[in-house]
Amino acid sequence: MDRPVTLLGIESSCDDTAAAIVRGVPGDMQVLSSVVFGQTDLHAAFGGVVPEIAARAHAERLDISVMGALEQAKVVLTDLDGIAVTCGPGLIGGVVSGVMTAKGISAATGLPMYGINHLAGHALTPRLTHGVAFPYLMLLVSGGHCQFLIAHGPDRFERLGGTIDDAPGEAFDKVARLIGLGQPGGPAIEAAAHDGDARRFVFPRPLSNKPGCDMSFSGLKTAVLRARDDLVAQAGGLRAQDQSDLAASFQAAVSDSLTGKSARALERYLVLKPSHPTFCVAGGVAANMTVRAGLEMISATHGATFLAPPLALCTDNAAMIAAAGIEQMQTRAPDGMDLSARPRMPLDTQSMAMLGSGKKGAKA
Ligand code: KG4
Ligand code: ZN
Repeated sequence: MDRPVTLLGIESSCDDTAAAIVRGVPGDMQVLSSVVFGQTDLHAAFGGVVPEIAARAHAERLDISVMGALEQAKVVLTDLDGIAVTCGPGLIGGVVSGVMTAKGISAATGLPMYGINHLAGHALTPRLTHGVAFPYLMLLVSGGHCQFLIAHGPDRFERLGGTIDDAPGEAFDKVARLIGLGQPGGPAIEAAAHDGDARRFVFPRPLSNKPGCDMSFSGLKTAVLRARDDLVAQAGGLRAQDQSDLAASFQAAVSDSLTGKSARALERYLVLKPSHPTFCVAGGVAANMTVRAGLEMISATHGATFLAPPLALCTDNAAMIAAAGIEQMQTRAPDGMDLSARPRMPLDTQSMAMLGSGKKGAKA
């Protein structure tokens, strides 16, 4: 395809209502606008995302998100070439809201509509931000997912492995709660860990001796719980230094696990002999500087370029969905009005279903 196309992207699979306009050709795209309405405040009192509240908020905010994205990009509906919408995996109420919005716009304008797997949106982000050539290795590490993928093409992904239980972001959030830090847990733990001693507690690096790229984070969370309980039993509570040391030791264990398994994933990817080996990371946990440093180091030792998209495109957004639509327009026909919203939707349908977080579909 030579002619640049302009797509509207819609994302509402978890707790961000987002719309964006992206223009370009596969591998050379520009974000004209990206609007994201977060819902953290709505869920704060409940200690997690409440699906019903999320769905209602999406339904209320989708139209203003779309109008905002069009306005900021200075385009109108007739300038568009298509609509891309997340059709799964995610919280079903939110996904349905987004899909219905896309169907409404498509029916009213005649624009072709593409249902996009949310995970494909994350996995194709390096094409949007850096025009990275296929195949590249991807680590998707967020509040709901953790998997290594080789991106072979716009809709061809090979999953090398992933978490068998909690996602790392989920572990950061739970551990923050356990040791009395705020939410979201990732940034709170990272800040506390700054003044902490990462060697004070020796937490497990689960599955590190097992071959393959699978990971596990729930035992680590339990180990932190035990260490906390011991400290509380000894001293009657946690001091700020205890919180920092627990945070630093936990963060080091997550980083070591991700880095160790990244080495294995890189080895498998390099068998393909890519001309410019590239290891990309996406998802909220990629914001963590300790994790990032570990991934950068392991990329360098394997002769691969390490790439992390800007944070706003690493976390949930609709630009990645529009960009995935531009990529997939080349490889398949648009979806019809029978496009369904799916709570679960594996990217790599050839490999075995994951046991853990990959099935929850709450956050991706
Ligand atoms: O990708 P994301 O915005 O949302 C989805 O999960 O889809 O990721 C959010 C997750 C949360 O669990 C949050 O605690 C974690 O990413 N996170 C971090 C950091 N910033 C966000 N984890 C570790 N360190 C951080 N600096
Ligand atoms: Zn996501």
